[in-house]
Amino acid sequence: MNLLLSLLLLVSTFSSSLAKGAFQSLLPSEDFGDRSNGFLAWAISIGKSVNGVPLWVIEISDKPGEEETEPAFKASFGYIGNVHGDEPVGRELLIFLANWLCDNYLKDPLATLIVENVHLHLLPSMNPDGYTLGKRGNANNIDLNRDFPDQFFLANDDEESRQPETRAIMNWLRDIRFTASATLHGGALVANYPWDGTRDKRWTFYYGCPDDEAFRFMSSIYSHSHYNMSSSKEFIDGITNGAAWYPLYGGMQDWNYIHAGCFELTLEISDNKWPTASELPILWKYNKMSMLNLVASLVKTGVHGRIYSSGDGRPLPGFITVSGINYTVRAGKTFGDYHRLLGPRDRYEVVATMPGYKSKNTSIWLDEGAMTLDFVLDPEVSVKLKGEYFFLILLDKANVLILLTK
Ligand SMILES: *[C@@H]1O[C@H](CO)[C@@H](O)[C@H](O)[C@H]1NC(C)=O
Ligand SMILES: *[C@@H]1O[C@H](CO)[C@@H](O)[C@H](O)[C@H]1NC(C)=O
Ligand SMILES: *[C@@H]1O[C@H](CO)[C@@H](O)[C@H](O)[C@H]1NC(C)=O
Ligand SMILES: [Zn+2]
Repeated sequence: MNLLLSLLLLVSTFSSSLAKGAFQSLLPSEDFGDRSNGFLAWAISIGKSVNGVPLWVIEISDKPGEEETEPAFKASFGYIGNVHGDEPVGRELLIFLANWLCDNYLKDPLATLIVENVHLHLLPSMNPDGYTLGKRGNANNIDLNRDFPDQFFLANDDEESRQPETRAIMNWLRDIRFTASATLHGGALVANYPWDGTRDKRWTFYYGCPDDEAFRFMSSIYSHSHYNMSSSKEFIDGITNGAAWYPLYGGMQDWNYIHAGCFELTLEISDNKWPTASELPILWKYNKMSMLNLVASLVKTGVHGRIYSSGDGRPLPGFITVSGINYTVRAGKTFGDYHRLLGPRDRYEVVATMPGYKSKNTSIWLDEGAMTLDFVLDPEVSVKLKGEYFFLILLDKANVLILLTK
């Protein structure tokens, strides 16, 4: 009932707002849900724009809305469209993507893989007001991709004075614990990866983040799966470091990587920002395999696994680091699952840590495929008998060390 209601709301919201634009309504003729195997999609609003328009997210999964572990735990991927109001191609392509996945589940292997193994969240429009007004910024004329707290531009640090759209995205990203995401922009054809800003604001130069290798790998998956992005004359291989192209501050990409544990790409998916509606099917055709393969990379590449306690076998919300890369990935609270994206390489040393437990590390060889790697950590429990005194260090549910004496 709730699902149906929210789907209907979504449909009516999109119909009315799309009807005002240059684009035709691209809504499904039927509801997303109930395609032979139960619901595949539902929609929720994660906040409101300045003018009070809900920010609708379509979630696609064989169990939408559930944090689940069986048959395999799932990583989450987010696509965000229309950050800039005058770049509406992304918002339309996300509707194509939602429809294609729902229509092809159990018919196409890639659709089935994504629906069954990824929680896919699609936010077609982050900036519905800018879209309605046909301009880049939101209703307050703020460029939302300059509105995030920034590691080098501290003027943006106050979270409360962010725009409502920005705050909604920040809360959503922290809430879902996305493994990766991508925003869809227009005006160029390139896959852009962090950092977007540099410490030295005077120059434009390549400024890679700790996971530069993984980001170049992910960006290449997009550009090589695209109709002709990788044959770009401006960008080698159709990919670019953000700062090497033009530095920007307050962008979503750097914030996601630093604060949300989420590997985010900024995808420029069409040279023409606002093409005619009749060009959308061809733009979908050009980007379709890229959009699908990027989501599928969460399943097909990287290292994934769970962290357990050797004592009682319970899942641990521990930390995963990789030697030589200054970045920490957190395991989930409920299932202790982690998802660490990495490019192919001969050797990585993967380290699992958890307060109150002994760390463990394993060396792995990673080719283009994914690897499953579980860690079983031993608690640092010690029992000492000293005369008639008895010291015992225990771990309570929150993994706080407690010292009992008797
Ligand atoms: C890609 O193809 C489109 C459509 O044919 C064309 O307009 C565009 O210039 C091409 N871009 C590159 C980088 O080859
Ligand atoms: C690792 O990154 C953190 C920020 O996430 C930074 O404060 C720290 O200095 C870095 N460490 C090294 C060794 O670069
Ligand atoms: C990995 O384990 C070995 C011994 O088992 C240890 O010498 C090394 O310092 C560990 N590396 C890290 C990064 O913890
Ligand atoms: Zn843009």
